[in-house]
Amino acid sequence: MGGRERFGNRAAVIMAMAGSAIGLGNIWRFPFIVGQNGGAAFILIYILCCFLLSLPILFSESVIGRRTSRNTVGAMEALAPGTSWKWLGLLTVISPIIILSYYSVVGGWSVEYLYKSLTIQFHPDNVEAVTGMFGIFTASGFKVIACLLLFLGITAGIVFAGVKKGIERFSKITIPVLFVLIVVIAIYSMTLPGAGEGLKYLVHPDFSKLTPDAFAAALGQSFFSLSLGVGTMLTYSSYVRKDENLVVSGAGTAVSDLLFAILAGFAIMPAVFASGIAPSAGPGLVFETLPYIFAKMGTGGVVISAVVAILFFITILVAALTSSISMMEVGVAYLSEERGLSRAAATAGIFLFALAVGIMCALKGSVFDFLDKLCSNFLLTLGALLFSLFVGWKMEKEDVKDELTNGGTLHTNAKLFPIIYFLIKYVAPVSIAVIFISGLLG
Ligand code: PHE
Repeated sequence: MGGRERFGNRAAVIMAMAGSAIGLGNIWRFPFIVGQNGGAAFILIYILCCFLLSLPILFSESVIGRRTSRNTVGAMEALAPGTSWKWLGLLTVISPIIILSYYSVVGGWSVEYLYKSLTIQFHPDNVEAVTGMFGIFTASGFKVIACLLLFLGITAGIVFAGVKKGIERFSKITIPVLFVLIVVIAIYSMTLPGAGEGLKYLVHPDFSKLTPDAFAAALGQSFFSLSLGVGTMLTYSSYVRKDENLVVSGAGTAVSDLLFAILAGFAIMPAVFASGIAPSAGPGLVFETLPYIFAKMGTGGVVISAVVAILFFITILVAALTSSISMMEVGVAYLSEERGLSRAAATAGIFLFALAVGIMCALKGSVFDFLDKLCSNFLLTLGALLFSLFVGWKMEKEDVKDELTNGGTLHTNAKLFPIIYFLIKYVAPVSIAVIFISGLLG
């Protein structure tokens, strides 16, 4: 095949992977889940989950991806030829395309809301009308589909430009900017009068709320947020150079994602409480509550709240794009490497498929909810479980060690290896299975 692209250096790898990880999951789900499940106590178990369960899965996907330098199906074929593991490869080509379809609908909403904030529609004179705007917008099928088309079109454009010129370049420029933006918004939010209650919601530790459900929520959120179980990290890792340290780039990705989620919490919740509204998750939070807050805060200074609104919707749109490109790349890598399509044809094919499913999601909320539940509650966890079983039980231990220590040349990794391997082989699959099954039963 030859000529397969590679990410340039470590910064490029971490920015691309962090770009995939940082997205809507950090902005609209994490802050709410934290408050619902015991504040700081939940953040604590979330961090544990991240390092003890999610990071080993990220390492598993990285080992498979970099060892084979192939797409998800090709990688399974290379490591376990002629076995049913190829179904895992296929599953993880399909699941990110499904996620891409409904994720892009929300990406389209953020295009519209960036436009609304640029044209200062969240104005103090408008406060009462602002929350109703979302219902009016989503009822207009034409507008929603046009925005979806635009979002998917930008995604396809970046993916088509290639791994280095498209994905790497876009993530390298935007991820540092996203961090600056979210810090600026957090400072604004925390200095609003009445913001203290929001801070309490995030940091007050309530250990009585740490029920089994809270553990399941932490696990599901952490997989979704780190883009695990759906082959995106595997595919990105297949573009990582052989001399890169997978443990360092994986840990760097997990820490960036965690930090961004916590910053998003501090950017959003203080403002929500300052305006006296009960917090919610999902579309209501980002497209109703926050615009209402921007409009209301405008009474204290129209310019500053208009600027914050613009920065906020730029943040959401860009964070969503760095994730959507990673979902699209999985299928593009598969179609171009296994099915012989050109990159242009592969990108166009996935674009059209995601557009068709996306339109159904945009027009029917029930399709949207069904696909979201199917992926985030089921396919992601299943994929993550199978990846850890594959690396822990199917692959040779020596091969896994070779990949994580670059042939034994990385001495710290060699010392850490027994712990990492134990987490991959026993801790991760057992905990995921227990939490998954108790979730299905409960
Ligand atoms: N991690 C992304 C987010 O938090 C979502 C995502 C899921 C991206 C699966 C790729 C694959 O928004």
